[in-house]
Amino acid sequence: MPDMLKIIKERRTIRKFQNKPVSDELLNTVLEAGRWAQSWANTQCWEVIVVKDQAIKEALQKTVPEGNPSYKAIVDAPIVLCLCAKKGLTGYYKGKVCTSFGDWLLFDIGIFAQNIALTAHSLGLGTVIVGLLNHDEARKIISLPNDYDLVVLMPLGFPAEEPYPPPRKELKSFVHYNKF
Ligand SMILES: Cc1cc2nc3c(=O)[nH]c(=O)nc-3n(C[C@H](O)[C@H](O)[C@H](O)COP(=O)(O)O)c2cc1C
Repeated sequence: MPDMLKIIKERRTIRKFQNKPVSDELLNTVLEAGRWAQSWANTQCWEVIVVKDQAIKEALQKTVPEGNPSYKAIVDAPIVLCLCAKKGLTGYYKGKVCTSFGDWLLFDIGIFAQNIALTAHSLGLGTVIVGLLNHDEARKIISLPNDYDLVVLMPLGFPAEEPYPPPRKELKSFVHYNKF
């Protein structure tokens, strides 16, 4: 199997973390992977808030429903990355939206997040993307200016679990040739 496919297949969402700090060197390597993500016209709309402060993690946790399987991960992980984006850049040309999808920030931050998740995994770290939260409440906690959106929280740390891979659909169930 190609090395990259192995990393892609073996990366799992990690929701349980060891009580062990992540060095700045590892953190910066993971962020460097985000930095090299592709983006609409190389607009690089991303902004990252690195949360290590336990009180801020606890405040962020309150914006996540208790039923979210990653509820505990927000306070247990040594680091929570808040992946944010400047609005009105990606999917725009000369200040105007150029496709029917409007702002492409979810797309570009998705790629950014995947670079982080895969690189973290390749370094023995684990991540989970947390999208189910009260974004309006969470943005206040990190003092996010109005012209930016908070997209996801991403707890990061050393895994304390080895989850079984959730099943994937077969290629033949979603790949179409020439027409749908
Ligand atoms: C955009 C997005 C939002 C997600 N939000 C959450 C979430 O709020 N809570 C959670 O526990 N997992 C969340 N996940 C993780 C998915 O549940 C997980 O990726 C999926 O079950 C497949 O498992 P795997 O990542 O181990 O392959 C999210 C994943 C993505 C891509």
